Amino acid sequence: TGPDTVSPTGQPTGADQARVAQSGSYLTNAQGTRLYDTDHSLKAGPRGPVLLQDHHLREKVMHFDHERIPERVVHARGAGAHGVFQSYGTAASVTKAGFLAADVETPVFTRFSTVVGSRGSSDTVRDTRGFATKFYTSEGVFDLVGNNIPVFFIQDAIKFPDVVHAAKPHPDREIPQAQSAHDTFWDFVSLHTEATNHTIFFMGDRGIPRSFRMMEGFGVHTFRLVNAEGATTLVKFHWKPKLGVHSLVWDEAQLINGVDPDFHRRDLADAIEAGAYPQWELGIQTFPDNPEQTFEGIDLLDPTNFVPEELAPVQPVGLLTLNRNPSNFFAETEQVAFHVGHLVPGIDVTDDPLLAGRLFSYLDTQITRLGGPNFPQLPINRPQAPVNDMLRDGMHQSAVHRGVAPYRPNSLDGGCPFTAGADTSAFVEAPVRVPEGRKVREASESFADHFSQPRRFWLSMSPVEREHIIGAYTFELGKCYEQAIRERTLQVLANIDPELCAGVAEGLGLPAPEPTVPLAEVEPSPALSQVGG
Ligand code: HEM
Repeated sequence: TGPDTVSPTGQPTGADQARVAQSGSYLTNAQGTRLYDTDHSLKAGPRGPVLLQDHHLREKVMHFDHERIPERVVHARGAGAHGVFQSYGTAASVTKAGFLAADVETPVFTRFSTVVGSRGSSDTVRDTRGFATKFYTSEGVFDLVGNNIPVFFIQDAIKFPDVVHAAKPHPDREIPQAQSAHDTFWDFVSLHTEATNHTIFFMGDRGIPRSFRMMEGFGVHTFRLVNAEGATTLVKFHWKPKLGVHSLVWDEAQLINGVDPDFHRRDLADAIEAGAYPQWELGIQTFPDNPEQTFEGIDLLDPTNFVPEELAPVQPVGLLTLNRNPSNFFAETEQVAFHVGHLVPGIDVTDDPLLAGRLFSYLDTQITRLGGPNFPQLPINRPQAPVNDMLRDGMHQSAVHRGVAPYRPNSLDGGCPFTAGADTSAFVEAPVRVPEGRKVREASESFADHFSQPRRFWLSMSPVEREHIIGAYTFELGKCYEQAIRERTLQVLANIDPELCAGVAEGLGLPAPEPTVPLAEVEPSPALSQVGG
């Protein structure tokens, strides 16, 4: 098992702390030997050559040479904070997850991020924001790895490399660094119309939040809850900020980018330091677990869909309070490793094809990013539940495992550590029936409607929000070099709404095309508006 000297906040304590961080009143080398000088290399006389035998020089420079690890392939720039999650118990009828039972307090770490920019990019760019929370529950780690937009660009994870290649800077000039205003992005989203819903959301005000403290968060996918009787319920997770949802306007965002590129991370850290702890309510929308996996005609397995809150109200289940800043950015915010597969009993996945790919991708990328398979042992990633696995050795192993029989069945280390299947506190995949079918590389027919949800979003916006959306599309498309991309995007907008299309067309000095599909007959969802619909 891992070292057991971990405080309730996940920090190593006692001897473990002394082993991994600074202690004592004098400077040493990495072996703990006291140094008398760290400012001069060992030389043959003050003007002579540096000697190869200078181990301190070599160790100091060698370590510096290896200080950098790869940044995250997406969501590279982020800021995090520790906190607590207090459950209300209101979800207890639909899930047996212990941390959602009445009045349970669970330590958490949350990391907010932009998606596209590199680690050193600026905060107030137009982008989706990540909102990832690690719950250190007594039943193991649960990660809710969401965004501040309730829908995603793609329906199938096999398209993730495509959408990210399109959104990242052009491979030739490596520009733009952190904006979406470029040809490859608009080329992709205009050709790949399932991206239309996510695109209109982040052309809206949610694309430039005022503060991490004033953002909603969404689990995006539909998950499956399992209660103590084994009954299942489909669910979407929501975070609702106590401070309300607020955004910057474009001109503010531009100005702040220049004046203070660290605006969002500074805001989060300063607020926490001042005791103005940000809070979010965790809420769930619940849906019957029917064989079709639909609700009011909305396919719950299609992650480009949201379910209007007017149709399925968000029910509060607990309160997140972020109350402690990290003491070391690298150790905590950079090394934290979230994963949608970190589940606890009572919370399970569905057959959303995007979620399936995420279940593979995070672990895979973290093996590279964090240097081998033992990153769950890093202090920020350690469960605060007992760990008794049979994983052994490997790069950067820091646990000193006991026993001789990391296999089962065994008769040497006291036999098996559990009786398979008998213990109801184990994570058991919900034994739901899977649909029958042929092996195909095809999307479900129900994934084909790409315009009615963006139209619902557009119709839900207030006049000022519509103005911002038209301004955002006009600015972004105005930065594209290719006229064909502008024209193709106008066609997409025509299929959402004529007023939207005409507004952007006018700004670009182009004719507004007619829709190529009938405009969807949908009701607005006032809850989507930040200023009351
Ligand atoms: C990182 C959200 C889809 C691959 C992240 C992070 C968030 C996030 C919040 C940052 C985690 C952190 O702070 O460390 C989402 C959401 C998605 C989505 C909400 C869709 C609903 C995908 C898909 C893939 C993917 C489809 C791949 C198939 C990654 C990778 C990272 C990442 C590789 C970097 C992880 C690391 O280096 O630790 N994602 N993502 N994501 N995501 Fe996603």
